[in-house]
Amino acid sequence: MNQPSSARIIPVDPFDYLVFGGTGDLALRKLYPSLLQREEDGQLPERARIFGAARHDISHDDFLQLVRENCQEHLGAQFPEQAWPRFAQRLAYLCLDVTKREDFETLKAELDKEPDAIRVYYLAMAPSLFGQTAANLHAVGLHENNARIVLEKPVGRDLQTFQQIDDQVRAHFDESQIYRIDHYLGKETVQNLAALRFSNILFTHVWDADHIDHVQITVAETVGLGERAGYYDRYGAMRDMVQNHLLQLLCLVAMEPPSQLEQDMLRDEKLKVLKALRPWPEAINGDVVFGQYEKGSIGGKDVPGYLEELGQDSRTETFVALRTFVDNWRWKGVPFYLRTGKRLASRHSEIVVQFKQVAHSVFDDTITNTQMQPNRLVLRLQPDEGVSLELMTKDPGPGGMRLRQVKLDLSFQKEFNLHFPDAYERLLLDVVRGNSTLFMRRDEVEAAWHWIGPLLSHWEHSSDKPRAYAAGSWGPLDSNYMIYKDNNRWHEETPA
Ligand code: BG6
Repeated sequence: MNQPSSARIIPVDPFDYLVFGGTGDLALRKLYPSLLQREEDGQLPERARIFGAARHDISHDDFLQLVRENCQEHLGAQFPEQAWPRFAQRLAYLCLDVTKREDFETLKAELDKEPDAIRVYYLAMAPSLFGQTAANLHAVGLHENNARIVLEKPVGRDLQTFQQIDDQVRAHFDESQIYRIDHYLGKETVQNLAALRFSNILFTHVWDADHIDHVQITVAETVGLGERAGYYDRYGAMRDMVQNHLLQLLCLVAMEPPSQLEQDMLRDEKLKVLKALRPWPEAINGDVVFGQYEKGSIGGKDVPGYLEELGQDSRTETFVALRTFVDNWRWKGVPFYLRTGKRLASRHSEIVVQFKQVAHSVFDDTITNTQMQPNRLVLRLQPDEGVSLELMTKDPGPGGMRLRQVKLDLSFQKEFNLHFPDAYERLLLDVVRGNSTLFMRRDEVEAAWHWIGPLLSHWEHSSDKPRAYAAGSWGPLDSNYMIYKDNNRWHEETPA
């Protein structure tokens, strides 16, 4: 039977949400649909307005139409027809060029109609425009008190460019007003990791190198370049996914328990992990695999290769697998394998914690090592969010002692019969609440860039080509060899 969920809708204060890049991919695919879902749940206060700001000159009606069509497309059957009219009344479009001071005067006049509202500026456009936007907001006095600014990742292409852009924003906004978003931190299962680790004594004493053999983190996608060629080809999987999402997941697995799950306490612990990541040696030697997809087939549908989609030659990686270590007491010698890619076999993201084998077998020789499987904890981020714990049991029935591996499998959807909010739904309103726990602090982002910097420059200075893999596969074979070297294998390859 389903467990009733104790989900609560906590109202937020009146706000004005201003989305810069308001007709762009992120705004249309994620931000408006998420706010609309919050509308449906009754979480948006009466005096809340949402502005899309961009350079094109489009009419109010065309903007509404654009937002509606995109919400319908991305929410599918969950599109809340009834809530739409209420939501549409909050929406307005502002034709604004972030390089023009006078456009910000117009913006100010509009926002001043609600002087007490919390103001959120979501910068969903090219990071090269962040500094100028922050400066113009400041120049017209829109940076004060109740204002917050959200920076979408990746900010910069390396440590230096991150610092430059971040400094430009910090010249106009206080650190406490800056929200550096990594939407993976808003995912339900990611938050569940903290619940699992810190509220179950079962795990607290085995969460270390004495008991854990290795950890795998996979974020696999079936999508390809889509509409984002211009962006993606400049960034690649390392900057788009590893520098932020995968490293944040690694931090949550590896961090020490903070004394409370509060803003800086949590972020302090994550930072320690980032700083303990083993620096890359000069010769990288098979611990990193860069790949690029070629044409193939996903779910029975033929898809083109990356270069065909892009229409030009490129060395940009659409796949990365790497093996690293957290050099501290708790994790001494435990490999962390990270893997992400576009156009892989299925959309499938998970964290696998592979425990060690028991110290001694009490069974006779008929129970072979292959039958004795070590325990494994799998946190599924998507799809079908949930947790499973693989245990050994006796294979039932007579015929002597035989062992069998079974799964205790918890699917959140089945257990709680609840719509799982998109990560952005929670984070967008956390900004209004002024809660930055699930956002990245500057020093965390710096540490992440600092760690991947040498790897990026090694790759960019080499003449190697990314390893080819067929769309619809699990990436280049070298990614398997990387993990076989330690006598391990990726989880999806393991026979059930
Ligand atoms: C974004 C990346 O941050 O995350 C995209 O820029 C990627 O390339 C996306 O597709 C994946 O997010 P999710 O929530 O669909 O796993």
